[in-house]
Amino acid sequence: MYKLFFNLVFKRMDPEQAHYLAFRWIRLAARIPVLRTLVAAVLAPRYKELRTEALGLRMHGPFGLAAGFDKNAVAIDGMTMLGFDHIEIGTVTAEPQPGNPKKRLFRLVPDRALINRMGFNNEGSAAVAERLGARREVFRTTVGVNIGKTKAVPEADAVGDYVTSTERLARHADYLVVNVSSPNTPGLRNLQATESLRPLLTAVREAADRSVQDRRVPLLVKIAPDLADEDVDAVADLALELGLDGIIATNTTIARDGLGLKSDPALVKETGGLSGAPVKERSLAVLRRLYARVGDRITLVGVGGVENAEDAWQRILAGATLVQGYSAFIYEGPFYARALHKGLAARLKASPYATLAEAVGAETRKVTA
Ligand SMILES: Cc1cc2nc3c(=O)[nH]c(=O)nc-3n(C[C@H](O)[C@H](O)[C@H](O)COP(=O)(O)O)c2cc1C
Repeated sequence: MYKLFFNLVFKRMDPEQAHYLAFRWIRLAARIPVLRTLVAAVLAPRYKELRTEALGLRMHGPFGLAAGFDKNAVAIDGMTMLGFDHIEIGTVTAEPQPGNPKKRLFRLVPDRALINRMGFNNEGSAAVAERLGARREVFRTTVGVNIGKTKAVPEADAVGDYVTSTERLARHADYLVVNVSSPNTPGLRNLQATESLRPLLTAVREAADRSVQDRRVPLLVKIAPDLADEDVDAVADLALELGLDGIIATNTTIARDGLGLKSDPALVKETGGLSGAPVKERSLAVLRRLYARVGDRITLVGVGGVENAEDAWQRILAGATLVQGYSAFIYEGPFYARALHKGLAARLKASPYATLAEAVGAETRKVTA
């Protein structure tokens, strides 16, 4: 049904326009009490066995919405209504900015993929903090806040920019993510080098502790799938050294070669980050590498090409406590999270593990046992 609708309507529209249209419907539905209760009953059934504890937080399940879909925190209830167990808003930058010129989002339908060079279009951390502060929660959920660098701010001043956003947003965040892995802000990914990452994460940690004193806001870093293996290890070691709470693996890739892409070569050549099915293998490999290094000491979040329950289950077995998705939602539609939960619950039941937590990293533990 959604596939037919996608082919008849969304596919014929500019991808960014289609996004805003769908987004408007979701927000509208979430504002109508009877409708949102009905939609949530169908699309967001809760499974007791999938209840998850991560980052010191209790969640309905392990599967959340990846950053970039709700950049300005306007649809938290709407996305919860569609079954996502946590919503990561952002990326938010200290200053508001329009992002890159349009067109900047492309669908690679035969590859079940997207290319985007949005460039952190967002209203800025002051406006988003105000919105989060004024929010009256309809559905209980976990809200992650993902922050990045304002484009106009030079790389050398990046720390101050992240600190400003942290001071404004940390108190509204169930967890905070330092995004240093988007390919669409020039120089951003250089911040993944440990010499840059250490002072950045230290400053953000301190700013979070200064601005929120009644609890410890969990801090995570989100990394690119394009990091060399030794750089993945270096981030893992740094995370342990700094007492970071988690690592999100991965963002989009700038790679195109060797991914077996079938879409129009002109589209494939578009500049930006590639997401969806083609990034699956590398995202999973990065996750495995991280888990081998940090084990259960740090919460790992698996994202990149998670299309269905089997993909999510593989991430969990590889070491992810939480799993996220974005691109597949565009292709699978409103039943995406529901199908994922149902399939995950079935897989857990058929597995030798009594709880989801027991399944986390089981694949690696089996190899090393
Ligand atoms: C259009 C679009 C915008 C995105 N914007 C952000 C962003 O602002 N911040 C971020 O950390 N990740 C962003 N991402 C990356 C996703 O959060 C995710 O890491 C990536 O797409 C891989 O997951 P997927 O294959 O399920 O889409 C964006 C992805 C897409 C497709």
